[in-house]
Amino acid sequence: MTNNLLNFTIKTARKAGELILKSRKKGLQINEKGKNDLVTNMDKAAEKLIIKEIKSAFPSHSILAEESDFLNETTPEDYAKSKFIWLIDPIDGTTNFAHGLNEYAISIGLFKTAKSEHSKNFQYLSGELIMGVVFAPALNELFYAKKGKGAYLNDKKIKISNISKLKNSLLATGFPYNNRKRNLPYFSTMIDQSQAIRRLGAASLDLCYVAMGRFDGYWEFDLKPWDIAAGTLIVKEAGGKITDTNGNMLDLFGKDILATNGKIHQEMIKAFKKL
Ligand code: IPD
Ligand code: CA
Ligand code: CA
Repeated sequence: MTNNLLNFTIKTARKAGELILKSRKKGLQINEKGKNDLVTNMDKAAEKLIIKEIKSAFPSHSILAEESDFLNETTPEDYAKSKFIWLIDPIDGTTNFAHGLNEYAISIGLFKTAKSEHSKNFQYLSGELIMGVVFAPALNELFYAKKGKGAYLNDKKIKISNISKLKNSLLATGFPYNNRKRNLPYFSTMIDQSQAIRRLGAASLDLCYVAMGRFDGYWEFDLKPWDIAAGTLIVKEAGGKITDTNGNMLDLFGKDILATNGKIHQEMIKAFKKL
């Protein structure tokens, strides 16, 4: 992958960030698309901008974006035939954004499908993430990673924390919109066993904060591929470990995730298994 592709993605994320910041001042239209699940006119406008840029630069690539889901002209089978799939969350942390908090980000991940396994079923598509960009415009923090090339925050290389014991760790988690109570037993166990827990409200940033060592671990259930695609690669490239909450290989469509600095991973899995 060339630097051009990364530069293009960073430029696109910055453009979307500018649009969001500018329009934020003019006021927002906020709607509820599901129970507790907000969407604003800015989620839609930012997504439109990102899709337009990608379509004109890479017309043969597929796109899976939160507010459009599968784009009208393509079926899941079409995605499986495509060599590249962009996974886009135009505003991750919409609830924060709608309430005037700064912890929200544009998340753009690029997935390369494995040639030999062009499956008909998108859920089981195989391949790998090759690039991730997470931009928090209100914080002016730009995280990015390319497969095999490390992870960066505002052009400085980042790496995971050195905390090696769960009892000394700062953890993060989130609560799914439609099944908030599912996480309560996990939350209750971790609050006893860690130093503290934070609930930031943007999965992409939770992952980036693990990557740069602000958090030592993060877990959540019921996520979507666009929430975690970019952040997952950023964690891996910063030296962190990613699995599902049982310790199995992460499936982008598998919904639950555990991301840590690697050192507290087993301790967390062991504690989760007791639940
Ligand atoms: C949400 C955020 C939040 C997480 C939710 C996600 P959205 O994304 O990442 O932290 O707890 O599960 O859906 O809806 O703001 O893009
Ligand atoms: Ca999201
Ligand atoms: Ca979103």
